[in-house]
Amino acid sequence: MNPNPNVLVFDTSEQVAQAAAERFVDYSSVSIREHGLFSVALAGGSTPRRAYELLGTDEFKSRVDWSLVHLFFGDERMVTPDSPESNYGMVNDALISRVALPPQNVHRIKGETAPEKNAELYEAELRSFFGTTDWPRFDLILLGMGDDGHTASLFPGSDALKEEASWAVATRHPHSGQARITLSLPVINHAARVMFLVTGKKKAATLARVLHSDAANEELPAGKIKPEQAILEWLVDRSAASEL
Ligand code: 6PG
Repeated sequence: MNPNPNVLVFDTSEQVAQAAAERFVDYSSVSIREHGLFSVALAGGSTPRRAYELLGTDEFKSRVDWSLVHLFFGDERMVTPDSPESNYGMVNDALISRVALPPQNVHRIKGETAPEKNAELYEAELRSFFGTTDWPRFDLILLGMGDDGHTASLFPGSDALKEEASWAVATRHPHSGQARITLSLPVINHAARVMFLVTGKKKAATLARVLHSDAANEELPAGKIKPEQAILEWLVDRSAASEL
């Protein structure tokens, strides 16, 4: 039995994607009503792709005022945007290419080269958008979770997890060594809403550890996502929830 009210269990991954798309629409409407725009940082990987595809369909896209949406990325792999590994490339194919987002509203993490320099450039773009504040307050940050408990490109044991000043940091995948740029932990924890999408049996054990243990003490970055004065939701399918 899952006692955590912020964990929403759906029968299938398709239902997770539908629920995520519905929330994106709702949160964009509330944010635009409250302060005239909707700032969202999207997750990469494979899980959220279906939600992005749904948002690009006629059923959903007409319900979002894309002219007031600003799309950022939670992290990026250091590959070209046309690479099959690119988070931007995946989001562009699934969503950006299908909706009327003004090009200037898409804040891609550049950095096919020089990760450290491009982390600084991404942070400068964030600071230009969010203005003078200790930490940006995204209206929504979407996150996935790896079976090692990583989220964005915050990997267990990485120095990036200890970042307490920068908004964006360069890091590396612990096994492949692939250069990455990621939002830092404090940025994620200052968001107004954080929504995890986790599906599949292979993540069930890690999800249970993250949700049921004091993961803040364990090296499970997803367990360190504890935004204050915020909505934190886990949208999971029954397979991923099978050990809760
Ligand atoms: C990335 C993501 C990463 C992802 C997890 C889960 O760039 O890969 O930001 O944090 O969310 O690795 O990936 P899947 O959804 O593919 O399982």
